[in-house]
Amino acid sequence: MHIDPIVDTPVLLEIAREGGIEGRSRHYEKLLGDMQGVYRDGDAWNAAVAERGEDELVYWVDDHRYQEGAGALIVGTSTLLPGRIGNEFAVTRGHIHAVSDRAELYFCMSGRGVMQMETLDGQTSAIELTPGRAVNVPGHWIHRSVNVGDEPFVTLFCYAADAGQDYGVIADAGGMKHNIVVDGDGWAAVPNPDHRGYRGPTA
Ligand code: NI
Repeated sequence: MHIDPIVDTPVLLEIAREGGIEGRSRHYEKLLGDMQGVYRDGDAWNAAVAERGEDELVYWVDDHRYQEGAGALIVGTSTLLPGRIGNEFAVTRGHIHAVSDRAELYFCMSGRGVMQMETLDGQTSAIELTPGRAVNVPGHWIHRSVNVGDEPFVTLFCYAADAGQDYGVIADAGGMKHNIVVDGDGWAAVPNPDHRGYRGPTA
């Protein structure tokens, strides 16, 4: 019998409800200045940068992985701060996986948000998440987090380590098909008139 060498040993990860992983292997942040072109209302984004500065934190991610490769998992937390640009709620940039059939679990740890999902052929879905609720995002769906609450929106995510991310897919289409906007005390998904349709599959 052939036995593959064990190249990693298990470690304990302490995952905080407010986001963050003790034992993480990576940490990164996205700032207001990184979000140019992400929001439809460019004037509102410019005004926000002028008022709050391009270094204002929008969201941050901790993640952990062992080896690379198709069999490995990446586990992480995403912490998206509350806020609005014009009438749009704070969002992450959003992406489709570069290996597009790779799925991803998002489990809400704290806050209130929406997992906004679209396919290249025009299907849309927006699922509200509160603590204890999760979305098992199928492969082939573009996905982004939206904070529709007043506190940080924290999700625990898990996906295949070989998935990769294609962040250009949304920008190339003029934004997602819908935007998540303020609607009374809540939110609504409204058609984005700048959306031109998505390009073909990446993989
Ligand atoms: Ni993803």
